[in-house]
Amino acid sequence: MTFQIRHLSAADYPLVISAIDHWWGSRPMADKLPRLFFEHFADTSFAAERDGRLAGFLAGFISQSRPGEAYIHFVGVDPAQRGGGLGRLLYEAFFRAAQARGCTLVRAVTAPVNRASVAFHERMGFQLEPGDAEVDGIPVSSGYDGPGSDRVCFLRILRGP
Ligand SMILES: CC(C)(COP(=O)(O)OP(=O)(O)OC[C@H]1O[C@@H](n2cnc3c(N)ncnc32)[C@H](O)[C@@H]1OP(=O)(O)O)[C@@H](O)C(=O)NCCC(=O)NCCS
Repeated sequence: MTFQIRHLSAADYPLVISAIDHWWGSRPMADKLPRLFFEHFADTSFAAERDGRLAGFLAGFISQSRPGEAYIHFVGVDPAQRGGGLGRLLYEAFFRAAQARGCTLVRAVTAPVNRASVAFHERMGFQLEPGDAEVDGIPVSSGYDGPGSDRVCFLRILRGP
């Protein structure tokens, strides 16, 4: 059984919000994914289903301020569905949507504690941007998202078809 990828919609919001704290290993994440992503960024956000059940999602958008840039805010895969290529499928769907809108560059950030996310982004072809500090050899931007909220910043060039 394969995954069905479709655009995210406002109808997905309650289900995604109820799942993500668990999907992020009990970190409180729900308030970092407001409903506006489901309402206003549906064209560049995706849900994946398997057997009619939500298996993963991606929330991303095209930058209004930086022409040619796109940004992935959140990606999550049900722990029971990990390791089977779904994260890659969701990223590839986003890359296509961003390229179709003229983007040549994708950015994302993650918390330094999230080593799985760092490894995943490296496998997806992202470079780690230089930071002002290092944690276990990983460049970190201190206070990027406010005091105490350091981030690892990623960058990926989108090549032509
Ligand atoms: C990160 C996440 C989305 C990956 O989803 P996934 O479906 O398991 O990823 P895939 O199976 O598509 O893996 C894609 C590549 O990343 C690699 N990868 C994925 N998770 C990895 C991990 N924990 N450690 C090392 N490599 C990993 C895979 O080996 C694969 O590499 P390959 O295609 O070159 O063989 C998933 O683990 C998740 O939802 N984590 C919790 C939420 C989160 O942290 N999101 C990211 C920050 S917003």
